[in-house]
Amino acid sequence: MALKNINPTITTAWKKLYEHYNLIKPHHLNYLKENRPNKKNDFSIQFQELEVDFSNNRITKETLELLIALAQECELNDAIQKYFSGDKINVTENRAVLHTALRNTVNQKIVVDNENIVPEISKTLQKIESFTNKILSGEWKGYSGKSITDVVNIGIGGSDLGPQMVVEALKYYKTHLNIHFISNIDGDHVQETLKELNPETTLFLIVSKTFTTQETLTNALTIKKWFLQSATEKDIKNHFVAVSTNLQMVKDFGVAEENIFPMWDWVGGRFSLWSAVGLSISLAVGFENFNQLLLGAHQMDNHFKKTPLEKNIPVLMALISIWYNNFFKAETEVILSYTEYLKSLAPYLQQAIMESNGKSVDRNGNKVDYQTGNIVWGSTGTNAQHAFMQLLHQGTKLIPADFIGFKESLYGLTEHHQKLMANFYAQIQALSDGKTKEEVHLDMKVNGQFNQIESLLPYKVFEGNKPSNTILFKKLTPQNLGILIAMYEHKIFVQGVIWNIYSYDQFGVELGKELAHKIYHNS
Ligand code: F6P
Repeated sequence: MALKNINPTITTAWKKLYEHYNLIKPHHLNYLKENRPNKKNDFSIQFQELEVDFSNNRITKETLELLIALAQECELNDAIQKYFSGDKINVTENRAVLHTALRNTVNQKIVVDNENIVPEISKTLQKIESFTNKILSGEWKGYSGKSITDVVNIGIGGSDLGPQMVVEALKYYKTHLNIHFISNIDGDHVQETLKELNPETTLFLIVSKTFTTQETLTNALTIKKWFLQSATEKDIKNHFVAVSTNLQMVKDFGVAEENIFPMWDWVGGRFSLWSAVGLSISLAVGFENFNQLLLGAHQMDNHFKKTPLEKNIPVLMALISIWYNNFFKAETEVILSYTEYLKSLAPYLQQAIMESNGKSVDRNGNKVDYQTGNIVWGSTGTNAQHAFMQLLHQGTKLIPADFIGFKESLYGLTEHHQKLMANFYAQIQALSDGKTKEEVHLDMKVNGQFNQIESLLPYKVFEGNKPSNTILFKKLTPQNLGILIAMYEHKIFVQGVIWNIYSYDQFGVELGKELAHKIYHNS
């Protein structure tokens, strides 16, 4: 059964939220924080090795209650049950949305079109495991008898961004394999990658759910030609593997049947890193770590499915984001990870969030008259501080931020980590508290800048009042990364439910593809 279609703006909760917004808006975040009776418990949630602190938001307890009431009026609980049980909530494509089934580590039965999909998922996981082990142990040989040293993932969008982000994020847990990613149809990038590779010791993973994507097919063909300059057709089976739903096209391309890993239409491309699309992850960090990633995601799935809305991390993340997007009219959100390992998190989330919720027709087929999908962007701290943070601190736009940090570093170097985390907390505090005229005045006096007080004081004032979420993990482990990614996936789901849009299609990418095809063939 499909989700209930409710225009959020005509709910009672929305109207109340609007009135409430007019009361909250004039107050500074510092004032709101000081007037909270039970600071810690109401605005922070602990889940395993994760603590999410929502206290630096322009909200009160009542704001949260009203947002929860909105979620209830939009029948979020019912939607969550449908999402996990395989209802065809992706109505426009007539599909279930079951990336959560891929990390269903307890093998609970899930039925799609009268078929339990769990055995097929388990079989594929076993295939990923045995393939990974063969490659890593050196048992799998290239055409000249040498073991594999390099792996190239050829795919784009969800067939690239998720695996690439995770491989980079888990570099600390790396096996001996070097993993490369080719996505763009840019031939120069293909050449730059190939020039460092030896065809005898390289494995190519062609990853495409549809196997019709122009970029992936063009790149795969170019690479096959390059490979055949030094090897023969019969060697392809030792070097080319594919992940797809389109078995016929994969076979036509020349990939051996035993080298094909399945994909399913109930997994959206941008949510597919948990499937064989994540084969590069398993090769990069070993199957056990891949499994830990799945486990973390599964734990977040359970949290999301079973926790009451008011203590549910993805639900609160989504609702607070709606609060800024639809009431404060914030245009964008920034994601600031205080680790270089997560430098590709923002591009990954851009596809996940913007391809999902960048929609303007509601589930009744009507054009919406309210804002939907957030624009997300981001970088790593402290680099961001020396680049764009000026605009967050003193610019004219309200940009809610997610700060992602880790209590411990991976290699030690404690002094670095303490400085990194001091910056993490400093940014959160500076954004929220700001610095008043009086404080600036005093500072300038103390520093002996008497002559400049009049001319410079206004430029040195920080209004503060800039909201953020603090997302703090103990350590960057595969399991915690799984928790983090699944948290954002569910945030996307909640927002789509409340905005009354279909989050799991992506018709908006088609026109450009069609036109590029025409332009190419007419030129
Ligand atoms: O262009 C959009 C898109 O369909 C994404 O949703 C998808 O992740 C990407 O293209 C790649 O698709 P495929 O895996 O079928 O090659």
